[in-house]
Amino acid sequence: MAKNPVAPLLEVKGLKIHFPVQAGVFRHCVGWVKAVDGVDFVVPRGKTVGLVGESGCGKSTVARAAIRLIEPTAGSIVYRGQDIASIPPEDLKEMRREMQMIFQDPQVSLNPRRTVGTSIGEALRYHGIITEAKALRDRVALILEQVGLSPDVMHRYPHQFSGGQLQRICIGRALALEPELIICDEAVSALDVSVQGQILNLLVDLQHRLGLSYLFIAHDLSVVRHVCDHVVVMYLGKVMESAPADELFANPKHPYTQALLSAVPKSYPDEKTARITLEGEIPSPLNPPSGCPFRTRCPYAKPVCAKPPPRRQPSPDHVYDCVIP
Ligand SMILES: Nc1ncnc2c1ncn2[C@@H]1O[C@H](COP(=O)(O)OP(=O)(O)OP(=O)(O)O)[C@@H](O)[C@H]1O
Ligand SMILES: [Mg+2]
Repeated sequence: MAKNPVAPLLEVKGLKIHFPVQAGVFRHCVGWVKAVDGVDFVVPRGKTVGLVGESGCGKSTVARAAIRLIEPTAGSIVYRGQDIASIPPEDLKEMRREMQMIFQDPQVSLNPRRTVGTSIGEALRYHGIITEAKALRDRVALILEQVGLSPDVMHRYPHQFSGGQLQRICIGRALALEPELIICDEAVSALDVSVQGQILNLLVDLQHRLGLSYLFIAHDLSVVRHVCDHVVVMYLGKVMESAPADELFANPKHPYTQALLSAVPKSYPDEKTARITLEGEIPSPLNPPSGCPFRTRCPYAKPVCAKPPPRRQPSPDHVYDCVIP
């Protein structure tokens, strides 16, 4: 695979993913679900980018496009300088090894009838990294230690672990392939708050030790606060605001970001956020509002919001789309 050493690890450019809605006996296309409708962001090497927004805003669809499980309707995903749409089939396996995904429910991700050692080793065998039994066992033991588990647990089955331990095993299975990028899709959402903290600490620690990059997907901002360098806030398939994490938390500009932040307990007394309570349902991505998609729930909405909002850029890496300056 062509590797460009200076290009950012992952660039998502003008990404649109529209799913056809079919109806009737002949499955005619009667409309489009605009799951992702113009998303841009960059994951630099060794950094963590958060992708945040309420359920259904398109976060997982972006993730699935990033590993080329679905084709974009428009726009592109560029991995180390190469558009992934142009990666030949023989190189796809390597790309998928370099980009690993961790999901919300580790129970579903692991085969209940296999020992966790077999599950971790399977990835190594499949990619032909290690095939010999003794070497495989040693490597699995090392990986388990890396994620804070005792090597003895390799002979146990998934039902013998807690949710947090299972998520450690899934992280281990991803690490086994020495990836460059790990996409965490709601990886800690199902865990208790104290366990969430432990898993987040583990991810940060692994990043420092191994130089990993993360695309960190979550529906609430409190989870991303301590792990992300940059945060992208999505609503109905569009980016509402994108900013360095410190700046987003200290000076959120978009009313939607402010609303999401209102729900987050404050860590710093001097944080200035307007209290906005999100009311009403998210409109359907089948028929989104014109102009700013958030206008039907925005407390500051004006008639002008029915037109596309202007792009504002308060600092070089901070952009948001809103009529409010
Ligand atoms: N294969 C598909 N066909 C049709 N619609 C789809 C498909 N996959 C996703 N969608 C729709 O696209 C929208 C975005 O879905 P997606 O799963 O990306 O959201 P999400 O932000 O990950 O939500 P959650 O927080 O609940 O995981 C939703 O309206 C969903 O119903
Ligand atoms: Mg999702």
